[in-house]
Amino acid sequence: MTTRQRPRTLWLGRWGFVLAATGSAVGLGNIWKFPYMTGEYGGGAFVLVYLACILAVGIPVMMAEIAFGRRGRGSPIDAIRRVVRESGSGAWWSLFGWMAMLCGFLILSFYVVVAGWSFSYLWKTLTGGLNGTSVDDMAMIFAANNANPWHLGFWSTLVTLLTMVIVGKGVREGIERSVSWMMPGLVIMLALMIVYAAFSGGFSDGVAFLFSFEVGKLSSEGLLAALGHAFFTLSLASGAILTYGAYLPDQRSIARTTVSVAIADTIVALMAGLAIFPVIFANGMDPASGPGLLFMSLPLAFQAMPLGTLFGVIFFTMLSMAALTSAISMIEATVAWLNESRGISRAKASWGAGSLLWVISTLAMMSFNVGSEWTLAGKHVFDWLDFLTSRFMMPLGGLGMALMAGFLLRHEIFRSELNLTPVQHALWLFMVRYVSPLGIVLVFIDSLGIVTLDLAAQWPWLLAILVAITAVGEMASPRLKRQLSE
Ligand code: PHE
Repeated sequence: MTTRQRPRTLWLGRWGFVLAATGSAVGLGNIWKFPYMTGEYGGGAFVLVYLACILAVGIPVMMAEIAFGRRGRGSPIDAIRRVVRESGSGAWWSLFGWMAMLCGFLILSFYVVVAGWSFSYLWKTLTGGLNGTSVDDMAMIFAANNANPWHLGFWSTLVTLLTMVIVGKGVREGIERSVSWMMPGLVIMLALMIVYAAFSGGFSDGVAFLFSFEVGKLSSEGLLAALGHAFFTLSLASGAILTYGAYLPDQRSIARTTVSVAIADTIVALMAGLAIFPVIFANGMDPASGPGLLFMSLPLAFQAMPLGTLFGVIFFTMLSMAALTSAISMIEATVAWLNESRGISRAKASWGAGSLLWVISTLAMMSFNVGSEWTLAGKHVFDWLDFLTSRFMMPLGGLGMALMAGFLLRHEIFRSELNLTPVQHALWLFMVRYVSPLGIVLVFIDSLGIVTLDLAAQWPWLLAILVAITAVGEMASPRLKRQLSE
């Protein structure tokens, strides 16, 4: 029963997995979303809560995902089916694999639109197309950029093409090779941006905005946002990390690689904040949220500064590369599945998946122009894709991974894959069995609006619930496990 799956491919270099997984984790979420969330939810206090979420939920679930991938050696569907079968449980659990694969695919179909913004702004910066003197001018440039479907479609199509070319070339030749220069390049550019920001005159304001400890601003909304973001930023429950884990050599420590990726991801997010906010404050602007921050305020600030064009180019190159290394990870699961299970060559699989992706992403792109009237329940295609993936598929997928790893599967599998000390293992198990599921369920009910959560007042209840489910779970789990696997 415990015959291990032979890997089809493995990362070539020692750092192959860490680079690729960090490339996946570091994306628009880090450079755009994290800095503004930090500012909005109370600076240092939010950073602390976010770190706690990464530790208590992100890292344990990521370890489980990598273990699934490495044990099952395949796409999420195949890997989960194999690991579940090895434990003697029903194959229908691989539905979670299907959902993860679909989730990555659907995220990519709107992510390429935002990545397209970044590429088009790189072009505009290079060619002097961002000439404006006020935020209103910049808002008009942004609106004009979106209003033309040919223009916007060109950039999202370009991102789709680049993604598919890289993935089509294979794990080593395509993915590993591209991340091995893009990731160091990204860090160097980010460091340059911070040096630039340090001389902008707004550095201390930027630092204060990011790290001042304002507990009062930390609402339960902020807590839940931190938890949701921990999932998104670590690329969990979307097939990306699991599939990359399938190429991880046996001798590498899953715990150590996971921690490296989580630390690198967090450092990049903090660095992004240090690169962006000083420039914004130096020019007396508002730290606006949403697309405004990166695509309106920042370009305007660059214009007013010495060497602004050069650093604008550096910034948008960095943003585009961060988006691209995430994009390739979102579709790797689909391509790997078509390749392994359907026997289609990687190149063909990549073109096939890319064509479908192009159709859906074009519909998403049209939300900003010709399709602005196509709404369902007040949401555009673009918003629906975002809503379905981040509000439903990711939390549900994460819950599935955590519960499968915690209760369903033979412990021995995770013992041998994770290879932790008994105390570490017990801690990991406690996290995936109780802490992560409770956290995920909280995010879920909050986002559905079923109950209004007020964590500051309700935390004693939540603690009581955690203790209760732990007690019940520990009493029932051996039975539960036997029943489910019969
Ligand atoms: N982690 C990426 C980011 O922060 C997004 C992502 C989600 C990548 C899911 C892969 C899979 O932008």
